[in-house]
Amino acid sequence: MADSIVIFGASGDLTSRKLIPALFQLFVKGRLPEGSRIIGVSRSAFEHEQWRDSLRETTAQYAADAFDNEKWAAFSENVFYQRGDITIPDDFISLGKFLDSIELDESGSPCAECGRVYYLSTMPQLYETAIQNLGDAGLSNDSNGFRRVIIEKPFGTDLTTAQALNQSIHSSFREDQIYRIDHYLGKETVQNIFALRFANSIFEPVWNRNYVDHVQITVAEEVVIGRRAGYYDTSGILRDMFQNHLLQLMMITAMEPPASYDAALVRDEKVKVLHGVRKMTGGDFASDTVRGQYEGYLDEEGVPVGSSTETFATLKLYCDNWRWQGVPFYLRSGKGMSCRTTQIVIQFKQVPYILFDDMPKAPIGNRLVIQVQPAEGIQMHFETKVPDSEMRTRTSTLDFSFQGTSGGRSLPDAYQRLLLDALNGDASLFARSDEVELAWGIIDPIIAAWKSPAAPALHQYQTGLWGPEEASEWMQQQHREWFDVCPVLR
Ligand code: BG6
Repeated sequence: MADSIVIFGASGDLTSRKLIPALFQLFVKGRLPEGSRIIGVSRSAFEHEQWRDSLRETTAQYAADAFDNEKWAAFSENVFYQRGDITIPDDFISLGKFLDSIELDESGSPCAECGRVYYLSTMPQLYETAIQNLGDAGLSNDSNGFRRVIIEKPFGTDLTTAQALNQSIHSSFREDQIYRIDHYLGKETVQNIFALRFANSIFEPVWNRNYVDHVQITVAEEVVIGRRAGYYDTSGILRDMFQNHLLQLMMITAMEPPASYDAALVRDEKVKVLHGVRKMTGGDFASDTVRGQYEGYLDEEGVPVGSSTETFATLKLYCDNWRWQGVPFYLRSGKGMSCRTTQIVIQFKQVPYILFDDMPKAPIGNRLVIQVQPAEGIQMHFETKVPDSEMRTRTSTLDFSFQGTSGGRSLPDAYQRLLLDALNGDASLFARSDEVELAWGIIDPIIAAWKSPAAPALHQYQTGLWGPEEASEWMQQQHREWFDVCPVLR
């Protein structure tokens, strides 16, 4: 059955850079259900052909490896454009009519069971209005085929706004029709954490407080904020990266195995991790967090004078449950860092006793490094004997690179996987309402404390390094060190 993907915000950057290239690549691989239609909606006036032409150019740029004129011609036959303003209810009635006019079966009769996915790739301030208008125009009614809505981040700006947004969405769509995107969940290596943990038996016995000293989750970006000051300065790194991406990575690292790989059960287990995260109180905000801002941030175009918005943060979180009691999870992210990497480091405990007298210092302990990007892979660190020495050891590595196993093909962009899952009705890699709200419940108090007079100092750091020196000193005070290697695998 051919379904429709309706993209609100059709003239935006995300549509041309990510969504259309992802859909085109799915089409080329034969994964997009045959005849699937893509309908762009925005306020600009375009004819179908004009929109196709502009997408042709951008897709040739962003999906260069897969681009082929003939395939594009076949794909773009089912690409349409409908002018519409999200704030005008009548435009949704017109959209409904237009969709009915193109959703036809092979005999030319109205398609009885064509599904629709509405993708909100608009300004977040418009989500509520779009959803309300979709509902009022009867476009969420799924009696004739599924109706699903995909919502981009940010989902609210704090717990109160996220709750209000959830409530308002639920008046038009049921929870099982809602797909809240966190593009980190669509990354191959993030999904590979499920495989690593739950398709192997050797890791599970050591994946707990008995063997793990601590976990580091780092999302470092070389880029600075560029021209995004308008958004970034009111958001800051905790809202931009921690409430969503970093907590998602933590959930997948820390969760229990679900009873089966089913959206509800996977998300139940993830949510339990958030329930276990110890809320910071009192002095914790100063002792368990480090905040920073890169030098030069205040000179970026559009940043208000004297802004104290953080571009770097690290949090020490604990998950109070049987598996993780007492094991710190260090979450760290920053702009203007030494290189772009997303990595999860499982740092195992040191051996209980050093047997060999020749060792200059105790080995640091085994590490499992999961590099989510740029080159996706896994590295295991373990001690081996230095050849031709007394019993001295050094750290050796075992590398696994995803690229090496994908037959030279580049790994699919996260949006391919997520769009396909939404079309297939698999919500495992999307955030549920309780998950989003619990995540805000963890982040909100830290944001509030950082805005209060008792806020810890905002450390300046030079771009091109690993954030403020104070973050390294803070780790050393805890007798630990950051795994500042980037990239681990190429
Ligand atoms: C976005 C943030 O969600 O993720 C950006 O708003 C950030 O600030 C981006 O740069 C990072 O995504 P990726 O996939 O490039 O790691």
